[in-house]
Amino acid sequence: MTDSAISTRLIIRQPDDWHVHLRDGEMLEAVAEYTARQFARAIVMPNLAPPVTTVDAANSYRDRIKAATGTNFTPLMTCYLTDNIDPAEVVLGFGKGVFTACKLYPANATTNSSHGVTNIQNIYPVLEAMQRIGMPLLVHGEVTDVDIDIFDREAVFIERILSKVIADFPDLKVVFEHITTAEAVEFVDGSGTNIAATITPHHLAFNRNAIFQGGIRPHYYCLPVAKREKHRLALRQAATSGSEKYFLGTDSAPHLSDDKESSCGCAGLFNAPYALESYTQTFEEESALDKLEAFASENGPRFYGLALNDTRVVLEKLDNQAAKEFQTDSGPVIPFLADETLSWKFAGFEH
Ligand code: DOR
Ligand code: ZN
Repeated sequence: MTDSAISTRLIIRQPDDWHVHLRDGEMLEAVAEYTARQFARAIVMPNLAPPVTTVDAANSYRDRIKAATGTNFTPLMTCYLTDNIDPAEVVLGFGKGVFTACKLYPANATTNSSHGVTNIQNIYPVLEAMQRIGMPLLVHGEVTDVDIDIFDREAVFIERILSKVIADFPDLKVVFEHITTAEAVEFVDGSGTNIAATITPHHLAFNRNAIFQGGIRPHYYCLPVAKREKHRLALRQAATSGSEKYFLGTDSAPHLSDDKESSCGCAGLFNAPYALESYTQTFEEESALDKLEAFASENGPRFYGLALNDTRVVLEKLDNQAAKEFQTDSGPVIPFLADETLSWKFAGFEH
């Protein structure tokens, strides 16, 4: 490596990932290290099959994650809300420090969401309890009505569901996950300090055209689906604005490439391997590298009421060739930015 190759080093407090799908079994074994190598903690999504709805299930999933990542990484577990969820179980899990938050999937909104909530009123007892104990609600913010255009599902969710939940539970802490629209930014900006949002690297990097660039491109398909350019620009503005309401959540969601390159391909991008590089590039393009640390490493823990990490990580500005694919025992997984030359490289911890 020549001297000129390392023209810039950026050192920031170690980030956390406030939204990730680590999966289970073989896939967990294959992907967990890419999250654990760069993030100290992660909010782990509970949409396994069957979903994580009990303290016991979350405890054993946490053990399997730790076995895959080693002890330097802390998985923060979430409870999957169903129509029949027992508020007492949620309160117990939060009290024991097993559940950090609950995740709301509207029924059939996305991968493994068939056990999700069919009517928001069904979970009002649990929302009441969560508001009382200060437990965050993490929201997949899309309506599922077939008559609503897929590109409008987030905006309609705000109108029909989220505004009402927040009016009915004004002190509930809510993270509007993986926001994709200018409407979501406007809503979060206009809400109180108990409402925050995560933003993924991919929704900052491309708009919906990428899914159809010269043919159908399944590796750009996720939910909520990418929207038009004006929305991407609103997300970039929000992430780099310095507002404490926005923080890093990759929504890394690996699927085998065969399951994506299919007549009915799965939603989700595996972005864990190059997540920090991708965010850093976005912040650099927006001339906002000075805002990266707050977005990646400070706003999330402050919202969740957790300590900031003490460790620091290094990003180097140099050409970084991304891998074409990663192997699992069942076949390859293709990462976001596969085979591209990135302009930053995660270079481990500061010594
Ligand atoms: O694209 C997505 N993939 N969106 C989700 O909400 C779920 C995720 C998954 O689990 O595959
Ligand atoms: Zn997700």
